[in-house]
Amino acid sequence: MKFFVDTAEIDAIAELNELGMVDGVTTNPSLIKKSGRDIIEVTKEICDLVDGPVSAEVTAVDAETMIAEGRKLVEIAENIAVKVPLTWDGLKACKTLTDDGYMVNVTLCFSANQALLAAKAGASFISPFIGRLDDINLDGMELIEDIRTIYDNYGFDTEILAASIRTVNHVLDSARLGADVITAPPGVIKSLINHPLTDKGLAQFLADIKAADIKIL
Ligand code: G3P
Repeated sequence: MKFFVDTAEIDAIAELNELGMVDGVTTNPSLIKKSGRDIIEVTKEICDLVDGPVSAEVTAVDAETMIAEGRKLVEIAENIAVKVPLTWDGLKACKTLTDDGYMVNVTLCFSANQALLAAKAGASFISPFIGRLDDINLDGMELIEDIRTIYDNYGFDTEILAASIRTVNHVLDSARLGADVITAPPGVIKSLINHPLTDKGLAQFLADIKAADIKIL
């Protein structure tokens, strides 16, 4: 399973990238706003840092302007994936940009039928939002499962990019269900390492190293 980092914070991306944990990056207008940076500048910096796909989202709602924005975004770097919303205009932009050979991430997916449309429009990635479904007492993981089944039934090669990941269990369940990619905030990715028995076991080993004065160097 690939790990994308859901942030526009350069330092956080660099830290995880050094550990080989970054297969790509996703941004959205809210994350760009949070960074306080210019979208083109910060996206270029991210693309210079990361080899994998970097999603940058359009700002328009009509297909024609989305396509023009997408064409500007892909000039930033070869690894840009243009992010478009799951609307008819977004799907039209998706079809045009993927026909031109660019990667497109269709975002704001909340149903399996929407995911089916995105795959038919040639999307490279579909982004089902798990956390936001959980927020309204629906089961985000059920959506991942349904999309996996449908894409496998018909051999669609659109990658399932589980988004709006808020917890380590969202990551685990996405992996169990066969999502191709998860995109998560840096804090969630860093939390995956936590286990109290690891901490406890290490404390015991350190105590024994001290007691027995074990030295290697
Ligand atoms: O990139 C979109 C997505 O991950 C948003 O997450 O937590 O704002 O629902 P969230």
